[in-house]
Amino acid sequence: MPPRTILYTGKGGVGKTSVAAATARMCAARGRRTVVMSTDPAHSLSDSLGVELGLEACEVAPNLFGQEVLASVEMRRNWDSVSTWLSAMLMNQGVDRVRAEELTVPPGMDELFSLLRIKQHWDDDDCEVLIVDCAPSGETLRLLGFPEVARWWMKKAFPWNNGLLGAAAPLARALDLPLPDREMMGELDRLIENLLVMDSILRDHENSSIRLVMNPDRMVIDEARRTFTHLSLYGYPTDAVVVNRVFPDEVEGTYFGPWRDRQAAQLEEVEAGFAPVPILTARFFDREVLGEEMHGLLGKELFGERDPAAILHEGMARELSTDESGTVIRIAAPFVEKNEISLQQAGEELVVTIGDTKRTIMLPSGLAESNPSRAAFEEGILEISYDDVRSGTAQAPRN
Ligand SMILES: Nc1ncnc2c1ncn2[C@@H]1O[C@H](COP(=O)(O)OP(=O)(O)O)[C@@H](O)[C@H]1O
Ligand SMILES: [Mg+2]
Repeated sequence: MPPRTILYTGKGGVGKTSVAAATARMCAARGRRTVVMSTDPAHSLSDSLGVELGLEACEVAPNLFGQEVLASVEMRRNWDSVSTWLSAMLMNQGVDRVRAEELTVPPGMDELFSLLRIKQHWDDDDCEVLIVDCAPSGETLRLLGFPEVARWWMKKAFPWNNGLLGAAAPLARALDLPLPDREMMGELDRLIENLLVMDSILRDHENSSIRLVMNPDRMVIDEARRTFTHLSLYGYPTDAVVVNRVFPDEVEGTYFGPWRDRQAAQLEEVEAGFAPVPILTARFFDREVLGEEMHGLLGKELFGERDPAAILHEGMARELSTDESGTVIRIAAPFVEKNEISLQQAGEELVVTIGDTKRTIMLPSGLAESNPSRAAFEEGILEISYDDVRSGTAQAPRN
């Protein structure tokens, strides 16, 4: 049985580490062997747990193990030979050494290697619950689509792979290019295979979920919604949204009173942006969330009596898929009639009103300029289609 795997992601400072630590402690207290692993280069899991963690999981409390992965170490392990070859090739093309070395590491890629440690826990079968305190969203999550791209790239860029290496040698010599050696190609192949496995781990709806952590503040919410769109595009299941640092009723009538009112409005936005994914909230405590006692309070706020490792939402709340002809967005809209649904688009935001509820969808950046070409409603599923502008089919009739 693979470990129940939960990844917490969100903008820096929103409370990922605190929430991850609180979740892990709760799981361990329920008697499940739990590993909490930080892949965020801004490590603070050690501080949060009050124990100095290392590169491998070490025991923090009964049933609880902590680990802080270092991107640079994972990078060296996985990418060294490829990067040496790439930089040799770039320098050969006249790029100076410093820039060449920099160019061999796409941004966010080191973080991707850190995530490979998830696969290692699955392989080693060393825990029942695996909680991952991830790096801030953006780049890394985009790169989660990388393995598919990498496989394509391997086929196109290295057609001489699979024994054809010899055939390319004369060409490489003629062009005076450093030839990738078999060992490097083998390593690259293995890396891509590992990344593909990791990708399927994250898509494993029965065991893995991603939870988006945010604060009830405009900019933070917008970024989380963008991440949610990416996750939906790649088919990574999100089973909960955590809204941390909500001002409690006690601040009413104080300096923070008006801020609390604004937060209440933002919470409605969160509801519209992520429903039907459950929203877990935690108050802004009167002190930092450090150590066992505070983790206990935070965990109780978030989960109450619920099992923190349960799958809190099954399936995909939004489905986005793209192919050559365009993009299709599917949203469940049960128990309504067609005439109760309306669509409105403003820039990158699509607002779907279903009966008296509102769903807002942050569109993938390529769609911000286009309008939906079709909308269909059948058996409780609303399907909205966008034609691919680049394929020249954008002139299809609009409704
Ligand atoms: N609900 C909360 N109330 C008060 N302080 C909090 C709360 N959640 C987190 N913090 C504090 O905010 C800071 C940032 O939290 P952290 O979990 O490290 O965020 P992240 O991992 O997303 O960068 C820490 O000092 C933490 O103790
Ligand atoms: Mg952190």
